[in-house]
Amino acid sequence: MPRPQLDARPAPARAPADADGGAGGPAGRAPHIIAIANQKGGVGKTTTAINLATALAATKVRVLVIDLDPQGNASTGFGIAREARRQDTYRLLSGDLPLSQAAIPTQVPGLSIVPAGVDLAGAEVELVATEQREQRLTEALGAATGAGVDYILIDCPPALGLLTINALVAAHAVLIPLQCEFFALEGISHLMRTIERVRGRFNPALAIQGIVLTMFDKRNNLSDMVAQDVRSYFGDKVYRTVIPRNVRVSEAPSHGKPVLLYDVGCAGSKAYIQLAGELIRQHRTLAA
Ligand SMILES: Nc1ncnc2c1ncn2[C@@H]1O[C@H](COP(=O)(O)OP(=O)(O)OP(=O)(O)O)[C@@H](O)[C@H]1O
Ligand SMILES: [Mg+2]
Repeated sequence: MPRPQLDARPAPARAPADADGGAGGPAGRAPHIIAIANQKGGVGKTTTAINLATALAATKVRVLVIDLDPQGNASTGFGIAREARRQDTYRLLSGDLPLSQAAIPTQVPGLSIVPAGVDLAGAEVELVATEQREQRLTEALGAATGAGVDYILIDCPPALGLLTINALVAAHAVLIPLQCEFFALEGISHLMRTIERVRGRFNPALAIQGIVLTMFDKRNNLSDMVAQDVRSYFGDKVYRTVIPRNVRVSEAPSHGKPVLLYDVGCAGSKAYIQLAGELIRQHRTLAA
């Protein structure tokens, strides 16, 4: 299995999110921005964005999801109708819409989303010719400071193009889902090199928030082996919580619901609730 380099620098210390719901929180408070990235397709980025966001919102923090993937899976997973995607990430990136207008509420209290509309597919190409093309999202998300948002989760596409670079430049930290399968670490060196380049040129403080193992199948020895291998290499950067392969998790998006709303008692929901708890404790520890 390839052995990528992982910079162990911690996620930046910041005050824990406001447990009272964030409304009217301290003026100027900046949200914690997490890019959920892995250029490998189908590893659970979107599923993690949707369900981690929902589990965080359930703890009464205010969460914003940015759907930065032209596939629009996060928007679909929240049940956002096509017609409601006219105010979208594309218009946010192009400066056509401020964040306050691009973000729309979801069925989850305290959770809003900037959906991905059809135009986002062209953004990758169009961005190339624009000024400060890597910093478009950073600029757009500046408006979130002081707006009462505690966490921003960015669902990245399965590529390391300009959209993902925009996410890495705008984020404080990267959360990397790894699927429990033999080629889990394939391509991670490439992601790490991209993170290094972004640190060098745009965002020196970019941290690794953590690695989350997804689609773990307890009946399959390979899942165990991959999990052990990833832990022995990445150490405490790997969350203790492992997301199990769970049919309810895969069914939920077709109902336009996060799994926590679809079946709160299933193993997948419990795992995402546990992951949110780990992430919140991670912040408290770092901020203490
Ligand atoms: N824990 C899980 N149990 C069962 N199925 C899952 C689980 N997590 C994700 N899936 C399914 O695996 C597929 C890929 O997941 P997902 O869309 O979250 O990956 P992704 O990394 O966002 O993919 P892409 O790279 O295409 O954006 C989806 O069909 C999803 O429903
Ligand atoms: Mg996805």
